[in-house]
Amino acid sequence: MMKGMERKMKILVTGGAGYIGSHTTIELIKAGYDVVVLDNLDNSNEKVLDVICEVTGTRPTFYKVDLLDYDAVDQCFSENKFDAVIHFAGLKAVGESCRIPIRYYHNNITGTLNLVDIMQKHEVYNIVFSSSATVYGMPKTVPITEDFPLATTNPYGSTKLMLENILTDVFKANDKWSVTLLRYFNPIGAHESGKLGEDPKGIPNNLLPYVAQVAVGKLDFVHVFGNDYDTPDGTGVRDYIHVVDLALGHLKALEHKTNQPGVHIFNLGTGNGYSVLDVIRAFEKACGKTLPYKIEARRPGDIAICYADAKKAKEELGWEATRDITEMCEDAWRWQSNNPNGFCEL
Ligand code: NAD
Ligand code: UD1
Repeated sequence: MMKGMERKMKILVTGGAGYIGSHTTIELIKAGYDVVVLDNLDNSNEKVLDVICEVTGTRPTFYKVDLLDYDAVDQCFSENKFDAVIHFAGLKAVGESCRIPIRYYHNNITGTLNLVDIMQKHEVYNIVFSSSATVYGMPKTVPITEDFPLATTNPYGSTKLMLENILTDVFKANDKWSVTLLRYFNPIGAHESGKLGEDPKGIPNNLLPYVAQVAVGKLDFVHVFGNDYDTPDGTGVRDYIHVVDLALGHLKALEHKTNQPGVHIFNLGTGNGYSVLDVIRAFEKACGKTLPYKIEARRPGDIAICYADAKKAKEELGWEATRDITEMCEDAWRWQSNNPNGFCEL
């Protein structure tokens, strides 16, 4: 990919110390990109950079900067000539976004406005943005294609949809921009080294980290939110995707869409749906233990089934997920069992 290029492409990864950003940084470095990470460490740990260095042999340049600090972000762009930005930085907890919406809107929207304004000032017109399947709201059918109607049900989701619209308007006003909107389904799993993975603060909200903490003995049992959905076993079905497959999707987006003006939208999912009970069973196999669970009431706001039609990314980007649910659970278990307390232990 980098053959024949005079210099390595230089990529700014905002939120690069976070879960998906750190895995993407590793794959970028492995593929020969020059990577700069910008993160305020609000939901991550600086030790992640040591792990990236251990795994790849290269330590990315790190700016401990908040996107809300316009001058500091501007300074980062003055010190580096970026070819593209992959923009992960943002707050992502749905429940929290309902409790403190202003913080979510300010951080996610104002932070991105600062970033895009500074990019334009420094003539960097390539952005790959972390969107989410949450922008499809309550889809009427599955699989979900990129042209499904968009709607949101909580402030977090609204920030994603607003940012998709803002970035589209930025392109409409200046057709030098290449905007790639990647709508992730449910990222899980960890780096195969067992040194890097998801490290939620407090009690996890999402299924897989919760299951992993039950497996390691930090939590007593899995709360299964409803078994009366219209699904094969009655529990909710989702499109779980290995975080490394997801990371590789960003490299494909860079490869195919850098300097291709337009707004490019892709689902990043596997196209397969797994129920809550499927996930518990797959994790039991991975960890070799029986995992206790209790069926409880549905979680308000949850949908029955959500999975992607992933054809567009395959056709236009030449990308598809290759890691199955077994590998997702094995890698997550390696990370969780090696680091029961996440990065605090390193
Ligand atoms: P994460 O919290 O692990 O990573 C986000 C990173 O951004 C963190 O390291 C945090 O410290 C940083 N950050 C937040 N606000 C910042 C700011 N103002 N300035 C600088 N840094 C800031 O989350 P993740 O799971 O890696 O998600 C990455 C992106 O993907 C987010 O935008 C998220 O909304 C989106 N996304 C995540 C999921 C998921 O399930 N993990 C699904 C769909 C979309
Ligand atoms: C959540 C977010 C969504 C985000 C997505 C990807 C919510 C309401 N939605 O979606 O905005 O885009 O993550 O990260 O948080 N479950 C249990 N027990 C648990 C946790 C979950 O049974 O302890 C079930 C849920 O009901 C659901 C499935 O597991 O059927 C997956 O839940 P979760 O991991 O929270 O992801 P989503 O709800 O799909």
